[in-house]
Amino acid sequence: MAARSKKAAKRRASKKTAAKRTSPKKGAAEGDLLRGRFAGGIHPALDRINRSYDTDCRMWPQDIAGSIAHATMLGAQGIVSKAAARRMVKGLQKVAAEFASRTFKPKPSDEDIHMAVERRLTELIGPDGARLHTARSRNDQVATDVRLYLASASESIEMYVQQTQRALLALAERDGEYVLPFYTHLQRAQPVVLGHVLLAYIEMLERDIVTARYELDDCPLGSCAGAGTSLPIDRRLTAKLLGFKRPSPNSLEAVSSRSDIARVLSGFAAIGVTLSRLGADLVLWSSREFGFARLGDSVSTGSSIMPQKRNPDGAELLRAKATRVTSALGRLFEVQRGLPMGYFKDLQEDKTALFEAEDAVEEMLEVACAMLGDIAFDEQRMRAAVEDPSGYLLATEAADFLVRAGVPFREAHEAVGGLVRAAEKAGVGLEGLPLETFRTAHKKFDANVMKVLTADGAVKARKVFGGPSPANVRRQVVRWRKKLG
Ligand code: ARG
Repeated sequence: MAARSKKAAKRRASKKTAAKRTSPKKGAAEGDLLRGRFAGGIHPALDRINRSYDTDCRMWPQDIAGSIAHATMLGAQGIVSKAAARRMVKGLQKVAAEFASRTFKPKPSDEDIHMAVERRLTELIGPDGARLHTARSRNDQVATDVRLYLASASESIEMYVQQTQRALLALAERDGEYVLPFYTHLQRAQPVVLGHVLLAYIEMLERDIVTARYELDDCPLGSCAGAGTSLPIDRRLTAKLLGFKRPSPNSLEAVSSRSDIARVLSGFAAIGVTLSRLGADLVLWSSREFGFARLGDSVSTGSSIMPQKRNPDGAELLRAKATRVTSALGRLFEVQRGLPMGYFKDLQEDKTALFEAEDAVEEMLEVACAMLGDIAFDEQRMRAAVEDPSGYLLATEAADFLVRAGVPFREAHEAVGGLVRAAEKAGVGLEGLPLETFRTAHKKFDANVMKVLTADGAVKARKVFGGPSPANVRRQVVRWRKKLG
């Protein structure tokens, strides 16, 4: 009974709030800066879909920096009095302090971060605050804010990437000389050393971060809604004050383009994809089937039913969460696809894509670091995978032996293929075949072939630049240590 009436009360309450939420507000809300031309308030449903404050409030430092530069310029150009500009700058600094100390209180009328900052400024300094939006639109404002944001986001992601690279490097320094197979098609291929695999991830992340790096160039501020202004603003000054190289050369392009976000986001997506591949390796390596690695307790997860389980959830989530980043990049393009030139509210969705991708990549990098920081490699299991006689990982060494004796590679390939067949039939590795059999497979074989048929020898011989010989790997480790510090 009691439970039922509770439920009914809940239903009544939610009906009430639903009714509240679906009727338009009577009269323009106080503090609503945009609705002068409307007789009544905005419909709550439209208000909800339209507002972006909860998403874009993280750009408060950029928004305030942009406004400070703008106000300074307005004063320098005599568009507002020097005293008014000074008051605006001071007021904006106060607003920044409120954000920094988390005491800023958004109001329902704050549709986005731009409105919130301007509204608060006007509360703080009075009528001068109403001059800030002179010769400016939220269209050029948001385009400027987001570029400033990209610069700091890409820098911070780069720091996380470097941490992950350092974690990989530390493992390469510790266990880099363990011999293990490298795989093609997930079939054992040839012996390499672990350091080579770890360094491959370091290099891959490096390539990704190059794509994700962002340098401020064209400053959109002053493009206003898309058609510039007739007021005598100084776009060079605001560009300079904000650290851009120059003002953007076309006001319409400046407010319409989102390609800078796409550039950085594609770098983030690349990082996400690399981490997903690392995740895939960690899952394989920590399986009993491979047994190459054991994830530490802090980075292992249990099962709700099987008490013995030691699951690599973190690595699996590295794999899966990459889709958040790649799909965000797709979404960013999709939002722009088909838009005519100019600003449309569609473009507001750019930031949800960017922030979601940034958050996902950051979280993934932190987890990758944690997992790499608590992992033990099993040298024996790795070596056993290389030396398993049924794997024939040294077949290419036998072929290269013939090549060194002047045999064309195709001929050598075929001869060794025959040897593998014979060895498989006999249930031995190549090194288990009598020299006789080698000689019948190809007359250029001699007793020295046995010397190249060892995993350590094979790895050591791969001295080619970029190859996995332990000496090479040691050199690369030193190079990366210098670079990463
Ligand atoms: N919140 C908006 C965005 O993120 C700012 C620009 C709004 N401009 C406009 N004309 N409604 O895109």
